[in-house]
Amino acid sequence: MRRLLRKGIILRIIVTGGAGFIGSHVVDAYAAAGHDVLVIDSLWERGGGRRANVRNGISLVHMDVRDDAIGRVFSDFKPEIVNHHAAQHSVTISARDAIYDAQVNVVGLLNVLDHAVRAGARKLIFASSGAIYGTPQHLPIVEATPQHPASPYGITKMAGEHYLRFYRDAKDLDFTALRYGNVYGPRQDPNGEAGVIAIFIGKFLARMPVRIDWDGEQTRDYVFVKDVASVNLGVLEAGSGEAYVIGTGKRSSVNDVYRALVELTGFAAPVERALQRPGDARDAQFDSAKARSQLGWASQTELRDGIRATYEYFERLPPGY
Ligand SMILES: NC(=O)c1ccc[n+]([C@@H]2O[C@H](COP(=O)([O-])OP(=O)(O)OC[C@H]3O[C@@H](n4cnc5c(N)ncnc54)[C@H](O)[C@@H]3O)[C@@H](O)[C@H]2O)c1
Repeated sequence: MRRLLRKGIILRIIVTGGAGFIGSHVVDAYAAAGHDVLVIDSLWERGGGRRANVRNGISLVHMDVRDDAIGRVFSDFKPEIVNHHAAQHSVTISARDAIYDAQVNVVGLLNVLDHAVRAGARKLIFASSGAIYGTPQHLPIVEATPQHPASPYGITKMAGEHYLRFYRDAKDLDFTALRYGNVYGPRQDPNGEAGVIAIFIGKFLARMPVRIDWDGEQTRDYVFVKDVASVNLGVLEAGSGEAYVIGTGKRSSVNDVYRALVELTGFAAPVERALQRPGDARDAQFDSAKARSQLGWASQTELRDGIRATYEYFERLPPGY
Protein backbone atom coordinates (compact mmCIF):
# COMPACT_ATOMS: atom_id res chain seq x y z
CA MET A 1 0.00 0.00 0.00
CA ARG A 2 1.16 3.49 -0.80
CA ARG A 3 1.56 5.54 2.34
CA LEU A 4 0.02 9.00 2.26
CA LEU A 5 2.43 11.85 2.71
CA ARG A 6 1.52 14.06 5.60
CA LYS A 7 2.48 17.66 6.26
CA GLY A 8 5.29 18.10 8.72
CA ILE A 9 7.11 14.87 7.89
CA ILE A 10 10.76 15.09 6.94
CA LEU A 11 11.22 13.19 3.70
CA ARG A 12 14.36 11.66 2.22
CA ILE A 13 14.50 12.90 -1.37
CA ILE A 14 16.94 12.18 -4.18
CA VAL A 15 17.01 14.93 -6.79
CA THR A 16 18.65 13.84 -10.04
CA GLY A 17 19.99 16.78 -12.04
CA GLY A 18 20.01 18.73 -8.78
CA ALA A 19 23.17 20.63 -9.74
CA GLY A 20 21.42 22.01 -12.82
CA PHE A 21 19.40 25.17 -13.31
CA ILE A 22 15.89 24.03 -12.31
CA GLY A 23 16.95 21.05 -10.19
CA SER A 24 19.10 23.21 -7.89
CA HIS A 25 16.12 25.48 -7.13
CA VAL A 26 14.05 22.39 -6.38
CA VAL A 27 16.80 21.25 -3.98
CA ASP A 28 16.76 24.68 -2.31
CA ALA A 29 12.98 24.53 -1.87
CA TYR A 30 13.11 21.01 -0.40
CA ALA A 31 16.01 21.85 1.91
CA ALA A 32 14.29 25.05 3.07
CA ALA A 33 11.21 22.97 3.92
CA GLY A 34 13.43 20.79 6.13
CA HIS A 35 13.64 17.69 3.94
CA ASP A 36 16.71 15.49 3.73
CA VAL A 37 18.04 15.86 0.17
CA LEU A 38 20.71 14.07 -1.87
CA VAL A 39 21.72 15.13 -5.38
CA ILE A 40 22.84 12.83 -8.19
CA ASP A 41 24.27 14.71 -11.16
CA SER A 42 26.87 13.87 -13.82
CA LEU A 43 27.75 17.57 -14.32
CA TRP A 44 27.38 16.89 -18.04
CA GLU A 45 29.62 19.30 -19.93
CA ARG A 46 26.85 20.38 -22.34
CA GLY A 47 24.28 20.92 -19.57
CA GLY A 48 23.77 23.63 -16.98
CA GLY A 49 24.98 21.62 -13.98
CA ARG A 50 27.55 23.16 -11.65
CA ARG A 51 28.84 22.13 -8.26
CA ALA A 52 28.41 25.74 -7.13
CA ASN A 53 24.64 25.46 -7.68
CA VAL A 54 24.38 22.88 -4.90
CA ARG A 55 24.02 24.68 -1.60
CA ASN A 56 26.26 23.96 1.37
CA GLY A 57 25.22 20.98 3.44
CA ILE A 58 23.68 19.04 0.55
CA SER A 59 25.59 15.99 -0.71
CA LEU A 60 26.27 15.75 -4.41
CA VAL A 61 26.99 12.33 -5.88
CA HIS A 62 28.81 12.84 -9.17
CA MET A 63 27.28 10.02 -11.19
CA ASP A 64 25.48 9.34 -14.44
CA VAL A 65 21.83 8.30 -14.12
CA ARG A 66 22.52 5.54 -16.67
CA ASP A 67 25.13 4.00 -14.37
CA ASP A 68 24.03 0.90 -12.50
CA ALA A 69 26.08 2.16 -9.56
CA ILE A 70 23.25 4.56 -8.68
CA GLY A 71 21.65 1.42 -7.17
CA ARG A 72 24.11 1.61 -4.28
CA VAL A 73 23.31 5.28 -3.73
CA PHE A 74 19.60 4.53 -3.70
CA SER A 75 19.90 1.54 -1.36
CA ASP A 76 22.09 3.49 1.08
CA PHE A 77 19.98 6.67 1.10
CA LYS A 78 16.58 4.93 0.91
CA PRO A 79 14.67 7.83 -0.63
CA GLU A 80 10.92 8.11 -0.13
CA ILE A 81 10.69 10.49 -3.07
CA VAL A 82 12.79 10.70 -6.23
CA ASN A 83 12.67 13.95 -8.17
CA HIS A 84 14.03 13.36 -11.67
CA HIS A 85 15.40 16.49 -13.33
CA ALA A 86 18.53 14.98 -14.93
CA ALA A 87 18.19 15.00 -18.69
CA GLN A 88 19.69 15.72 -22.03
CA HIS A 89 17.79 19.02 -22.12
CA SER A 90 18.52 20.34 -25.61
CA VAL A 91 16.10 20.08 -28.55
CA THR A 92 18.97 20.80 -30.95
CA ILE A 93 21.24 18.07 -29.56
CA SER A 94 18.33 15.63 -29.63
CA ALA A 95 17.74 16.32 -33.33
CA ARG A 96 21.45 15.75 -34.06
CA ASP A 97 21.88 12.71 -31.85
CA ALA A 98 18.55 11.04 -31.14
CA ILE A 99 20.33 7.94 -29.80
CA TYR A 100 22.15 9.86 -27.09
CA ASP A 101 18.95 11.69 -26.24
CA ALA A 102 17.09 8.39 -25.80
CA GLN A 103 19.95 6.86 -23.82
CA VAL A 104 19.81 9.60 -21.20
CA ASN A 105 16.14 10.57 -21.30
CA VAL A 106 14.64 7.10 -21.65
CA VAL A 107 17.22 4.53 -20.50
CA GLY A 108 18.48 6.88 -17.76
CA LEU A 109 14.91 7.40 -16.55
CA LEU A 110 14.31 3.61 -16.56
CA ASN A 111 17.45 3.05 -14.52
CA VAL A 112 16.23 5.62 -11.98
CA LEU A 113 12.72 4.10 -11.92
CA ASP A 114 14.09 0.60 -11.38
CA HIS A 115 16.36 1.62 -8.53
CA ALA A 116 13.64 3.77 -7.00
CA VAL A 117 11.38 0.71 -6.85
CA ARG A 118 14.14 -1.53 -5.45
CA ALA A 119 14.98 1.03 -2.76
CA GLY A 120 11.33 1.23 -1.71
CA ALA A 121 10.64 4.81 -2.88
CA ARG A 122 6.98 5.80 -3.00
CA LYS A 123 6.92 8.36 -5.75
CA LEU A 124 8.84 9.84 -8.64
CA ILE A 125 8.35 13.46 -9.69
CA PHE A 126 9.27 13.91 -13.34
CA ALA A 127 10.44 17.06 -15.16
CA SER A 128 8.48 16.67 -18.36
CA SER A 129 8.10 19.37 -20.98
CA GLY A 130 5.68 21.33 -23.11
CA ALA A 131 7.77 19.96 -25.99
CA ILE A 132 5.59 16.82 -25.89
CA TYR A 133 2.85 18.87 -27.60
CA GLY A 134 4.90 20.07 -30.59
CA THR A 135 2.99 22.87 -32.33
CA PRO A 136 -0.65 22.43 -31.34
CA GLN A 137 -3.56 23.64 -33.40
CA HIS A 138 -5.08 25.52 -30.50
CA LEU A 139 -3.69 27.62 -27.68
CA PRO A 140 -3.49 27.68 -24.77
CA ILE A 141 -2.09 24.22 -24.25
CA VAL A 142 -3.92 22.19 -21.60
CA GLU A 143 -3.17 18.68 -20.39
CA ALA A 144 -5.54 17.10 -22.94
CA THR A 145 -4.06 18.91 -25.96
CA PRO A 146 -3.02 16.23 -28.50
CA GLN A 147 0.64 15.30 -28.22
CA HIS A 148 2.66 15.57 -31.43
CA PRO A 149 6.25 16.16 -30.31
CA ALA A 150 8.34 17.71 -33.07
CA SER A 151 11.77 16.66 -31.73
CA PRO A 152 13.39 13.53 -30.32
CA TYR A 153 13.59 15.45 -27.02
CA GLY A 154 9.80 15.88 -27.00
CA ILE A 155 9.37 12.24 -27.99
CA THR A 156 11.54 10.96 -25.12
CA LYS A 157 9.74 13.17 -22.59
CA MET A 158 6.40 11.83 -23.86
CA ALA A 159 7.67 8.24 -23.71
CA GLY A 160 8.97 8.91 -20.20
CA GLU A 161 5.48 9.74 -19.01
CA HIS A 162 4.17 6.42 -20.38
CA TYR A 163 6.86 4.58 -18.43
CA LEU A 164 5.78 6.42 -15.29
CA ARG A 165 2.25 5.11 -15.79
CA PHE A 166 3.57 1.59 -16.31
CA TYR A 167 5.67 1.73 -13.13
CA ARG A 168 2.69 3.02 -11.16
CA ASP A 169 0.37 0.29 -12.41
CA ALA A 170 2.86 -2.59 -12.34
CA LYS A 171 5.22 -1.70 -9.49
CA ASP A 172 3.23 0.61 -7.22
CA LEU A 173 5.60 3.56 -7.71
CA ASP A 174 3.46 6.70 -7.72
CA PHE A 175 4.33 9.66 -9.96
CA THR A 176 3.56 13.25 -10.86
CA ALA A 177 4.71 14.67 -14.22
CA LEU A 178 5.24 18.42 -14.59
CA ARG A 179 5.15 19.68 -18.17
CA TYR A 180 7.04 22.96 -18.01
CA GLY A 181 6.77 25.90 -20.37
CA ASN A 182 9.90 28.02 -20.87
CA VAL A 183 11.55 28.20 -17.47
CA TYR A 184 13.88 31.13 -16.73
CA GLY A 185 15.67 32.61 -13.73
CA PRO A 186 18.92 32.72 -11.76
CA ARG A 187 21.50 29.99 -12.59
CA GLN A 188 20.20 29.40 -16.10
CA ASP A 189 23.14 28.83 -18.41
CA PRO A 190 23.49 31.98 -20.57
CA ASN A 191 25.73 30.17 -23.06
CA GLY A 192 24.63 27.87 -25.79
CA GLU A 193 21.00 27.07 -26.34
CA ALA A 194 19.58 28.15 -22.98
CA GLY A 195 16.50 30.28 -22.80
CA VAL A 196 16.44 33.65 -24.50
CA ILE A 197 16.18 35.56 -21.21
CA ALA A 198 19.49 34.24 -19.86
CA ILE A 199 21.16 34.69 -23.25
CA PHE A 200 19.94 38.28 -23.58
CA ILE A 201 20.98 39.13 -20.01
CA GLY A 202 24.49 37.83 -20.76
CA LYS A 203 24.65 40.12 -23.79
CA PHE A 204 23.22 43.16 -21.99
CA LEU A 205 25.74 42.77 -19.16
CA ALA A 206 28.60 42.51 -21.65
CA ARG A 207 27.17 45.48 -23.58
CA MET A 208 27.02 43.32 -26.70
CA PRO A 209 24.42 43.08 -29.51
CA VAL A 210 21.58 40.59 -29.17
CA ARG A 211 20.34 38.37 -31.98
CA ILE A 212 16.62 38.33 -32.64
CA ASP A 213 15.39 35.60 -34.98
CA TRP A 214 12.33 35.89 -37.22
CA ASP A 215 10.49 39.16 -36.44
CA GLY A 216 10.78 38.81 -32.66
CA GLU A 217 7.01 38.58 -32.33
CA GLN A 218 7.10 34.81 -31.68
CA THR A 219 5.82 34.20 -28.17
CA ARG A 220 6.55 31.83 -25.31
CA ASP A 221 5.12 31.24 -21.86
CA TYR A 222 8.03 32.20 -19.60
CA VAL A 223 7.67 30.79 -16.09
CA PHE A 224 9.97 31.83 -13.27
CA VAL A 225 12.12 29.08 -11.77
CA LYS A 226 11.10 29.77 -8.15
CA ASP A 227 7.46 29.21 -9.14
CA VAL A 228 8.54 25.93 -10.74
CA ALA A 229 10.38 24.97 -7.54
CA SER A 230 7.23 25.69 -5.54
CA VAL A 231 5.11 23.29 -7.62
CA ASN A 232 7.77 20.61 -7.07
CA LEU A 233 7.26 21.18 -3.35
CA GLY A 234 3.48 21.01 -3.70
CA VAL A 235 3.47 17.67 -5.50
CA LEU A 236 5.34 15.94 -2.67
CA GLU A 237 1.90 15.62 -1.12
CA ALA A 238 -0.46 15.85 -4.06
CA GLY A 239 -0.89 15.12 -7.76
CA SER A 240 -0.80 11.35 -7.45
CA GLY A 241 -0.66 9.72 -10.92
CA GLU A 242 -1.26 13.06 -12.66
CA ALA A 243 0.43 15.30 -15.21
CA TYR A 244 0.20 19.10 -15.11
CA VAL A 245 1.11 21.81 -17.57
CA ILE A 246 3.11 24.45 -15.76
CA GLY A 247 3.05 27.96 -17.15
CA THR A 248 1.79 31.47 -16.51
CA GLY A 249 -1.05 31.43 -19.04
CA LYS A 250 0.53 34.50 -20.66
CA ARG A 251 2.37 34.85 -23.95
CA SER A 252 5.37 37.15 -24.17
CA SER A 253 7.33 37.86 -27.32
CA VAL A 254 11.09 37.97 -27.74
CA ASN A 255 10.62 41.68 -28.43
CA ASP A 256 8.84 42.01 -25.05
CA VAL A 257 11.87 40.45 -23.33
CA TYR A 258 14.20 42.80 -25.22
CA ARG A 259 12.13 45.86 -24.28
CA ALA A 260 11.96 44.83 -20.61
CA LEU A 261 15.76 44.61 -20.51
CA VAL A 262 16.23 47.96 -22.25
CA GLU A 263 13.90 49.53 -19.68
CA LEU A 264 15.66 47.82 -16.77
CA THR A 265 19.22 48.61 -17.83
CA GLY A 266 18.85 51.84 -19.82
CA PHE A 267 21.00 50.18 -22.49
CA ALA A 268 19.46 49.80 -25.96
CA ALA A 269 21.49 46.77 -27.05
CA PRO A 270 22.04 46.74 -30.83
CA VAL A 271 19.87 44.12 -32.51
CA GLU A 272 21.18 41.69 -35.11
CA ARG A 273 18.38 40.25 -37.20
CA ALA A 274 18.33 36.58 -38.20
CA LEU A 275 16.00 34.22 -40.02
CA GLN A 276 13.44 32.01 -38.33
CA ARG A 277 15.19 28.97 -36.86
CA PRO A 278 14.03 25.77 -38.55
CA GLY A 279 11.19 24.19 -36.59
CA ASP A 280 10.76 27.19 -34.30
CA ALA A 281 7.13 27.42 -33.18
CA ARG A 282 5.31 30.73 -33.51
CA ASP A 283 3.52 30.75 -30.17
CA ALA A 284 3.25 28.85 -26.91
CA GLN A 285 0.98 29.36 -23.94
CA PHE A 286 0.09 27.01 -21.10
CA ASP A 287 -3.14 27.05 -19.13
CA SER A 288 -2.38 25.68 -15.65
CA ALA A 289 -6.01 25.60 -14.47
CA LYS A 290 -5.65 21.94 -13.49
CA ALA A 291 -2.62 22.71 -11.28
CA ARG A 292 -4.55 25.63 -9.81
CA SER A 293 -7.60 23.58 -8.91
CA GLN A 294 -5.89 20.35 -7.82
CA LEU A 295 -2.64 21.64 -6.33
CA GLY A 296 -3.53 25.21 -5.43
CA TRP A 297 -0.54 26.26 -7.51
CA ALA A 298 -0.32 29.30 -9.74
CA SER A 299 2.66 31.16 -11.08
CA GLN A 300 3.26 34.22 -8.86
CA THR A 301 6.02 36.10 -10.64
CA GLU A 302 5.37 38.75 -13.28
CA LEU A 303 7.78 38.58 -16.19
CA ARG A 304 9.33 41.98 -15.46
CA ASP A 305 9.98 41.06 -11.82
CA GLY A 306 11.46 37.71 -12.81
CA ILE A 307 13.68 39.32 -15.41
CA ARG A 308 14.88 41.87 -12.84
CA ALA A 309 15.68 39.13 -10.29
CA THR A 310 17.54 37.15 -12.96
CA TYR A 311 19.47 40.19 -14.15
CA GLU A 312 20.49 41.08 -10.58
CA TYR A 313 21.70 37.51 -10.04
CA PHE A 314 23.92 37.57 -13.12
CA GLU A 315 25.13 41.07 -12.31
CA ARG A 316 26.43 39.87 -8.94
CA LEU A 317 28.45 36.97 -10.41
CA PRO A 318 32.22 37.44 -10.51
CA PRO A 319 33.60 38.50 -13.92
CA GLY A 320 34.24 35.60 -16.28
CA TYR A 321 31.85 33.27 -14.44
N1 LIG B 1 14.66 24.86 -18.87
C1 LIG B 1 13.43 24.69 -19.33
O1 LIG B 1 12.80 25.64 -19.80
C2 LIG B 1 12.79 23.32 -19.30
C3 LIG B 1 11.53 23.18 -19.88
C4 LIG B 1 10.91 21.94 -19.84
C5 LIG B 1 11.54 20.87 -19.20
N2 LIG B 1 12.78 21.02 -18.68
C6 LIG B 1 13.40 19.85 -18.03
O2 LIG B 1 13.81 20.21 -16.74
C7 LIG B 1 14.98 19.47 -16.38
C8 LIG B 1 16.09 20.42 -15.96
O3 LIG B 1 16.43 21.24 -17.06
P1 LIG B 1 17.38 22.50 -16.91
O4 LIG B 1 16.89 23.54 -17.84
O5 LIG B 1 17.55 22.83 -15.48
O6 LIG B 1 18.73 21.93 -17.53
P2 LIG B 1 20.16 21.73 -16.86
O7 LIG B 1 21.07 21.24 -17.92
O8 LIG B 1 20.57 22.96 -16.12
O9 LIG B 1 19.88 20.57 -15.80
C9 LIG B 1 19.97 19.21 -16.13
C10 LIG B 1 20.95 18.56 -15.19
O10 LIG B 1 21.01 17.17 -15.52
C11 LIG B 1 22.38 16.77 -15.45
N3 LIG B 1 22.57 15.61 -16.33
C12 LIG B 1 22.54 15.58 -17.69
N4 LIG B 1 22.77 14.35 -18.13
C13 LIG B 1 22.91 13.56 -17.02
C14 LIG B 1 23.15 12.18 -16.82
N5 LIG B 1 23.29 11.35 -17.85
N6 LIG B 1 23.26 11.73 -15.55
C15 LIG B 1 23.12 12.56 -14.50
N7 LIG B 1 22.90 13.88 -14.63
C16 LIG B 1 22.78 14.37 -15.87
C17 LIG B 1 23.16 17.96 -15.91
O11 LIG B 1 24.51 17.92 -15.44
C18 LIG B 1 22.36 19.11 -15.30
O12 LIG B 1 22.84 19.44 -14.01
C19 LIG B 1 15.32 18.61 -17.58
O13 LIG B 1 14.74 17.35 -17.40
C20 LIG B 1 14.65 19.36 -18.73
O14 LIG B 1 14.36 18.48 -19.80
C21 LIG B 1 13.41 22.22 -18.72
